Amino acid sequence: MNGKLETSRERVLIVGGGSGMGFALARTLLDEGMEVTIAGRSEDRLAKARQALPSEKHLHAAVVDITQESQVAQFFAGGVRFDHIVTTAADIRGAYQLLPALEMEAARRAIDSKLVGPLLLAKYGAPVLPANGSITFTSGIAAYRPVARGSVVAAVNGALASLACALAVELGPIRVNVVSPGWVDTPIWEFVAGDAKAETLDAMARRLPVGRIGQPDDIADAIRFLMRNRFVTGTVLHVEGGHRLV
Ligand SMILES: NC(=O)c1ccc[n+]([C@@H]2O[C@H](COP(=O)([O-])OP(=O)(O)OC[C@H]3O[C@@H](n4cnc5c(N)ncnc54)[C@H](OP(=O)(O)O)[C@@H]3O)[C@@H](O)[C@H]2O)c1
Repeated sequence: MNGKLETSRERVLIVGGGSGMGFALARTLLDEGMEVTIAGRSEDRLAKARQALPSEKHLHAAVVDITQESQVAQFFAGGVRFDHIVTTAADIRGAYQLLPALEMEAARRAIDSKLVGPLLLAKYGAPVLPANGSITFTSGIAAYRPVARGSVVAAVNGALASLACALAVELGPIRVNVVSPGWVDTPIWEFVAGDAKAETLDAMARRLPVGRIGQPDDIADAIRFLMRNRFVTGTVLHVEGGHRLV
C-alpha cells in the first residue's frame, strides 16, 4: 500500500475501485475529503485509476485478489485501519452461459469474486472496523429478474443478500448491507455483451421506467448512503431504474 494514512479522516477500502462503480465511489469519497484505498488484482488498472482520480495525497492503492484467503489475510494483517469496507469486485468472464456451455471454472470465478471474496473481506476486515463501521457488498438485478444464461450470477447475487443478513446479526453493531445495481454503463459490459454493448444497453434504456441506463455515480451515491446511514443494516438497496417492475 502506498502512502501514510491520516487518522482524522474517514478511511474507506474499495475493492474494485480501479474501474466502474468502485472508481466512481472513490472519486465521490475523495471529493468529500475521505482517505480512500482502491484495491484490485491488476497493478496497471490501479495505476491508471490513481492517475485519473483527484487526490494523490489521500488516495492509496493495494494489489489484492479477494478470492485468495492468504492475500486478504496478509492485507489486513499489515496494520491497516478502515471505517468502511466496500466491494464492487466481480469476475464474471464466461459466467453468462446456458448450462450445456457453462464451464465450471468460469462459474467458480464468479462465485469466488462475488461471494467468497466478500466473505473473506468480512472475516479479516471486520476486526479492523470500528463499532460504527460498515461493510457493503454489491449484488445485482440478475437475482431479481433472472434470464436464461444468468443462473450463476443470479445465484451469487441472491446469496449475497442472505450473507449480509447473517453478517449484520453476527458483526453488529458493524452494519452490513448490499447494493443491487440494475444495468449500469461500465467496462463489465465488454465481457457480457462484447460488440453488442451499446445496442444492448440502449434497448434496456427504452424498457426501463426511468428511460435510461444507470451511470456509475448512481451506484456510488447509493453506497455512500449505506455507509452513512447508521440505522440501515442487513438490507439490499435496489438501484435499478425500475428494472424489477418491467
Ligand atoms: N455494470 C452493471 O450493469 C452491473 C449490473 C448489476 C450488477 N453489477 C455488479 O456491480 C459490481 C461492479 O460492477 P462494475 O460494472 O463496476 O464492474 P467492473 O468495472 O468490471 O469492475 C470490477 C472490478 O472488480 C475488480 N476485481 C475483479 N475480481 C477481483 C478480485 N478477485 N479481487 C479484487 N478485485 C477484483 C476488477 O479489477 P481487477 O481486474 O484489477 O481485479 C475491477 O476493477 C459487480 O459486482 C457487478 O457484478 C454490475
